[in-house]
Amino acid sequence: MRVPMIAGNWKMNTTVSEAVALVNGMRYELDEIDNIDKVICPPFISLAAVGGLIKGSSIKLGAQNMYFEGKGAYTGEISPLMLADLCEFVIIGHSERRQYFNETGEIVNKKILAAPKVGLKPILCIGEKLEENEAGRTEEVVTEQLRSSLAGINNLNGLVIAYEPVWAIGTGKAATGEQANETIGLIRCNIADLYNKEIAVGMRILYGGSVTAANIAEFANQPEIDGALVGGVSLKASEFLSIVKQTSEIRRRLSR
Ligand code: PGA
Repeated sequence: MRVPMIAGNWKMNTTVSEAVALVNGMRYELDEIDNIDKVICPPFISLAAVGGLIKGSSIKLGAQNMYFEGKGAYTGEISPLMLADLCEFVIIGHSERRQYFNETGEIVNKKILAAPKVGLKPILCIGEKLEENEAGRTEEVVTEQLRSSLAGINNLNGLVIAYEPVWAIGTGKAATGEQANETIGLIRCNIADLYNKEIAVGMRILYGGSVTAANIAEFANQPEIDGALVGGVSLKASEFLSIVKQTSEIRRRLSR
């Protein structure tokens, strides 16, 4: 049985003091919810402060991005080595990075290759754009993104995939549970094809895009969906807690 995961992507929000306040507002309750991995991904500059507050708890920390080189003259970049000291997970290939910062499949692949070398677990984001969805190209686009991201990766140790249709991110227009379940099932088939069935069955694949406390049950009840990557509402402690609680309860019930 796969352990479900809810990851909160705070994006470019919160100052250090705001990040500290947000974590303080949820860490005790969050810590107590079991049967689920709870990951928070604040901005780089708050990782150390937030990490200090959740130390010794069951809450895990992730970064939102990284560069693929270990160190050197890359002004302004953050290396895998720097992150490995601070956190366990790193979001890679988020559609906002692909869209606004020209991250290509090749760059995403280099990052996916670099992360495990220092023990970081990538949360790899893939998903189709609206026009691709409307043209019926979802399967083709998602398959291509998955295969190019994972080129040359032999060991998927700890890697998590987030299926995030671009048209659903930050729009308030989430996919339906059935739609997301179908595409995630397809991603799982691709993993079986690229690696083997055992790896595919064990792989955690999340849904992301306008997930809220009001719609999380729709996703958590689907057999292929192992949780969610939550953006906007992960900045609201009560809503994030509700998403985590609901997912934990639903998955516990389904596993009986
Ligand atoms: P959203 O973002 O929940 O605000 O739609 C999801 C994401 O970008 O991971």
